[in-house]
Amino acid sequence: QPGPGLDAALALIADVPDFPEPGILFKDITPLLGDHVALTAVIDALAAAGRDAEGRPVVDKVLGMESRGFILGAPVALALGVGFVPVRKAGKLPRATYAVSYSLEYAEATLEIHQDALAPGDRVLLVDDVLATGGTAKATMELVAECGATVHGIAMLMELSFLPGRDSLGDADLTTLLTV
Ligand code: PRP
Ligand code: MG
Repeated sequence: QPGPGLDAALALIADVPDFPEPGILFKDITPLLGDHVALTAVIDALAAAGRDAEGRPVVDKVLGMESRGFILGAPVALALGVGFVPVRKAGKLPRATYAVSYSLEYAEATLEIHQDALAPGDRVLLVDDVLATGGTAKATMELVAECGATVHGIAMLMELSFLPGRDSLGDADLTTLLTV
């Protein structure tokens, strides 16, 4: 239910040409993060993906993917009244983890979750800033499955329309606030 508040918030995302390399148009969300009204509108809109039609929270945990997913995921968890679980890059979590590796354009990446972060049957909401190839979200879905938990939905600030990210997520319920 995008309203004027959300539109104004999304308008604060800044285009940065040629970052981090020539030819890339980087979408910088820091002006949005720095504005309390805009940040509130975005967090509320992402949290809606974890509510039923009556507005009741229907997830047990919110997962955020390192690192920009942490910034958005923790306040979404608070908005829903549930805990937050970090999905981290390799070697950062101190206790026993499940790990999933996936390929980037020119390299491999690994994401991890603590084995006891989710209980079997937990329903979770995945939160991140951008859906590009979908590799990060897909790997996170595999981690959730390994925990015996269920992905209720995926909520992202932005979706890049020129990449097939959405197609790689199967029939997962994907909410994005902006397509660029
Ligand atoms: C970016 C972005 C998403 C991911 C999207 O994170 O924040 O997490 O890429 O890409 P994908 O759909 O192709 O997986 P990045 O790994 O650059 O790191 P950061 O969040 O730590 O900045
Ligand atoms: Mg990221």
